[in-house]
Amino acid sequence: MDYLQIEGPNRLSGKIKISGAKNAALPLIASTILSKSESKISNLPNVKDVKTLLKLLSNLGAKYSFEDGSAKIDTSSTSNTKAVYDIVRTMRASVLVLGPLLARFGHCEVSLPGGCAIGQRPIDLHLKALSLMGASIEIKNGYVIANAKKGLRGTRIIFDKVTVTGTENIVMAAALAKGKTTIVNGAKEPEVVQLCEVLKEAGVEIEGIGSDVLEIYGTDGELLDIKEIKVIPDRIEAGTYLCAGAITNSKITLQNVNTSHMDAIITKLQEMGFSFDIKKDEITINPTNSINPVKITTKEYPGFPTDMQAQFMALSLMANGVSIIEERLFENRFMHVSELLRFGAKISLNANIATITGPTKLCGADVMATDLRASSALVLAGLAAKGVTNVHRIYHLDRGYESLEKKLSALGAKIQRLKE
Ligand code: EPZ
Repeated sequence: MDYLQIEGPNRLSGKIKISGAKNAALPLIASTILSKSESKISNLPNVKDVKTLLKLLSNLGAKYSFEDGSAKIDTSSTSNTKAVYDIVRTMRASVLVLGPLLARFGHCEVSLPGGCAIGQRPIDLHLKALSLMGASIEIKNGYVIANAKKGLRGTRIIFDKVTVTGTENIVMAAALAKGKTTIVNGAKEPEVVQLCEVLKEAGVEIEGIGSDVLEIYGTDGELLDIKEIKVIPDRIEAGTYLCAGAITNSKITLQNVNTSHMDAIITKLQEMGFSFDIKKDEITINPTNSINPVKITTKEYPGFPTDMQAQFMALSLMANGVSIIEERLFENRFMHVSELLRFGAKISLNANIATITGPTKLCGADVMATDLRASSALVLAGLAAKGVTNVHRIYHLDRGYESLEKKLSALGAKIQRLKE
């Protein structure tokens, strides 16, 4: 297994390009199941989760090519509608094929995703919504067995909780349903917005895009014409690198970003004392003389993103004072705390609230990644820590960060990927 070795502390400088958003790429790849023609998706991040989903589509009989950040996907040869456990267990977002497969073929079997480090993460809301659309749903031998022989029918769906992939699954199912589907309390993340825009472009009438009430007028089984898609920039990757600049008190520039998707992240960093030069697709973070402590509560978009919680916890170790971070979306998203303590951090936990006392002189340590965003927090702490840090189990990182060590090296970090 690979691990990352980082020597710190180090000031960073220079500029890097941000990749396409993993969490936009995944639903967009799944949406090609709804397309009668070959789809071309560009600005795809070269990360494990994208490759896993493409492999799943190929397993279903679809054909694809993927190189230099672009994929061509033709699902017309899809001959199988069973998403097997071996693939789904490696990436829970595989559940995104459930809606489109059911909508197009009237039946599918998708393995239940199983547990995840950050929480139980059930898919009950996805299944309840599909049942309301006329599907029969059975759970058997760890699989969701879904049937809708007469096709799905539009209806009104009120989500008890805001669910990103739940909204995406139902939007895709509704696209081919008969009649209108109204989704109330839907997710409004930029990644959901892009999926809706792509489906609208491909022939589905959708109202309320960007709001939490969506109205989707299905094509009653007629396949779509999804042609060219360019994946939006990854706001979480961008936020992670802004935190890399912040934690090393450096001036760095990120290109190929969409700063309008990053308000909550930028605002929090401004509260902590950092200033920015902001253009539409480029952002520069400037150092500060003193980092202020912060209060964060994670919320659905446009609130502060849970996917940035671990990174800000690492940054708050450098703040002059006590920071409070409340995790509201997942029940177990503090796995990075015990690893950050190994750097010398002062963090106490009380249920879903973490209290961080800074500033701390961090010392390099051997640490272990537990989930995607927690791993990035450990890398950030390693950049600021005195001495050598080894981050193990970085297969978690490879799921969602393209060429992380190359991008950080380009900014002047002393970081290398080694074999255990
Ligand atoms: C998406 O996961 C993202 N993944 C996650 O990013 C992100 O953390 C999460 O949204 C929240 O923003 C992708 O987009 C591929 P949810 P998702 O359904 O859709 C509960 C990363 O690091 N819930 O919005 O799985 C659930 O348990 C990943 O890139 C139910 O109870 O998250 C959670 O507490 C990690 N029943 C809350 O809702 C359901 O049927 C939000 O989950 C569905 C969800």
